[in-house]
Amino acid sequence: MQADNILITGGAGFIGSHCVLVLLELNYNVIVIDNCSNSFCEKSVSKPEALIRVEKLTKKTLQFFQADIQNCENLRNIFKEFKISCVIHCAAFKSVKESWDVPLSYYFNNISGSLNLLTVMNEFNIKKFIFSSSSTVYGEPQFLPITEEHPTGQNCANPYGRTKFMVEEILKDLSVSDKEWCIYSLRYFNPVGAHPSGEIGEDPVGIPNNLMPVISQVAVGKLKLLNIYGNDYDTVDGTGVRDYIHIMDLAYGHIAALVALLQENNLGVFKAYNLGTGSGTSVLQLINTFENVNNVKIPYKIVERRTGDTAASYCAVQLAKKELNWEAKYGITDMCRDAWNWQSKNPKGYQK
Ligand code: WQD
Repeated sequence: MQADNILITGGAGFIGSHCVLVLLELNYNVIVIDNCSNSFCEKSVSKPEALIRVEKLTKKTLQFFQADIQNCENLRNIFKEFKISCVIHCAAFKSVKESWDVPLSYYFNNISGSLNLLTVMNEFNIKKFIFSSSSTVYGEPQFLPITEEHPTGQNCANPYGRTKFMVEEILKDLSVSDKEWCIYSLRYFNPVGAHPSGEIGEDPVGIPNNLMPVISQVAVGKLKLLNIYGNDYDTVDGTGVRDYIHIMDLAYGHIAALVALLQENNLGVFKAYNLGTGSGTSVLQLINTFENVNNVKIPYKIVERRTGDTAASYCAVQLAKKELNWEAKYGITDMCRDAWNWQSKNPKGYQK
């Protein structure tokens, strides 16, 4: 039986590349679109380094197109060439801080990029869609653990989170207006870690904003120390609590969603699923685990809170377990071990 053709946008990024790896391992035909704005891509080679390594790890090949989802003609040419069964849409700008610096480019890239993609999909009658969403759509949690019924869009603390919320609203309207659309929105909590081989991992452009890459870069000596943004929250030790999820669990969560979506025969579907572990870990707990697992020291300084941060965020996991038959398997120890394995093997990320 002919394997399904899966198109993934942003497939050279941290989340995208790990999803591409598991899709190839499971014998899907994978077509990747990435504009390489967020992934290291030597001008002289045909594919981004992350995807070259994915092909080596899986001993499989993928189709790569350096293209921007802002360019409908590029998209059309790709859709003409392949009979796509489902699109996984990971391409987006994703820095909370940067989204305040350049909100217009975030709205333009994340929203109109999604609109272009959906428009071209519609032209080719491809209507199975997995959207890379985020826990930021929930804003300041009104209750914990956060279920998928928690209101979204209210007090989203930043333009980045609002772009994810707005695209979800567009997708809901689409699934009502045209019953052939089947859409799953995956709300990631805090993806961290790396493939156990240490060959692919998180390679932020510039100074990282997120905690785990900062810890890893301090550990490898790329950064001098970690600033802990506040220790006066109403949490176990005063520092921020988050639901960290191993990137491999997240990648398998996409597979579970894909399998369910390809079998989905309900019409006019929009379903959202939390992808998290259901447990919260504080900044200090993550630092301590990272130090103990990897036998390294992470010097830190307590500074003032970061604007827009919430005290605690972790999710309810029952829905994905029940409907996607998926749950996270890795713990914080695995996340710290694999994050360090990647960083220590690749002190400069994908750059040689
Ligand atoms: C985690 C905790 C910080 C850095 C964001 C997005 C979310 C997702 C993941 C895309 C907080 C503390 C952090 C540092 C620190 N991205 N911290 N010093 O803010 O929960 O989520 O990134 O989808 O959508 O909102 O993640 O890793 O930035 O912060 O003390 O140098 O670590 O205060 O408590 P966050 P984070």
